[in-house]
Amino acid sequence: MTTSNPDHDHSKHITVSSSIASQTVDAIENISGVHSGYRRAHAKGICCQAVFRPSGLAAPFTSAPHLQEQEVNAIARFSGSSTDPLVADFMSPAKGMAVQFMLPGGDVTNLVGATIPVFFARTPESFLDMIRAVHRAQEGTLGPLDLLQEITSHFSESKESLLAVKKLMPPSSYAECQYYCIHVYFFNDREGNSYPVKFEWIPATGVHTLSIIEAAQQPDDYLEEELNQRLKFEPIVFHLHAIFGEKGDPTDDPTTAWPEDRRRIDLGQLYISDIIKEPVDLLMDPTIITEGMALSNDPILNFRHTTYAVSHDRRHQER
Ligand code: HEM
Repeated sequence: MTTSNPDHDHSKHITVSSSIASQTVDAIENISGVHSGYRRAHAKGICCQAVFRPSGLAAPFTSAPHLQEQEVNAIARFSGSSTDPLVADFMSPAKGMAVQFMLPGGDVTNLVGATIPVFFARTPESFLDMIRAVHRAQEGTLGPLDLLQEITSHFSESKESLLAVKKLMPPSSYAECQYYCIHVYFFNDREGNSYPVKFEWIPATGVHTLSIIEAAQQPDDYLEEELNQRLKFEPIVFHLHAIFGEKGDPTDDPTTAWPEDRRRIDLGQLYISDIIKEPVDLLMDPTIITEGMALSNDPILNFRHTTYAVSHDRRHQER
């Protein structure tokens, strides 16, 4: 699908009130407590140095500088989805991979992926409702039946995501997961055409998982230890795919997958070489894009801008 749309300007995102973002971070903290100095989600993580080598195949569709011919440096952060930085790797089912590309001229752009293809909430309001319902259930003010009713009132939008989480098996390595960036972005070409795209990171080694029994026998930090070992011998490689939407494919709904047969192109390869100390102030905001790209109207994508800033400010002040 190609659209000619001057509104797909990369500098715009929908403004989200910082009050709902703060309420959301408060609600997450109410469930899991405050872990001072840590991200309010995906608290446990490990950063790596990387280089992205573009294939050049994206050039007809976008002028994004990191997707042309020139390689760029990058930082990858692998994480577990838990809000608790001390939780064992085995206990947090979904994993994350956030990548920050260093653009020529000093700007950055981010892509943030997770091991589930769709999200469970379509809007910030329903996300907040669900988190608050879980908290009330924890406190005992919402009985199991009320909780069920609260969840089922959102269930139709959460269904695909809950099924995906149910199917998740523990990964053998952060390097052997497929990561989905979930939201739709737009590529803008030099003639003013726009193309809706989703991004996925595909591991060069293929996807490999452990059985539940194998995973339960692993040390708490087995994924970090495995990464450490692996990088002593060889770099970790991921292919970045763009999947092109067609007419009728939703561009504003993170709870729905597109049909499997959509056109894909391989945008290039990420070579991850070394584990590094997390740079001070690293913020993997998925709405920080670049020329040649635009954000979709997905309310969750736009909401993440303000929510991540709230989490970043809190953890930064606690250091
Ligand atoms: C309502 C929607 C969401 C909320 C409220 C939310 C909340 C958060 C917060 C507060 C952080 C910590 C930010 C920081 O301190 O830097 C975070 C990080 C993260 N989130 Fe989300 N998130 C949402 C949706 C998603 C989705 C759809 C994905 C899947 C792609 C995702 C994947 C991640 C990952 C991988 C990180 C770690 C980033 C890093 O390594 O720096 N989140 N999220």
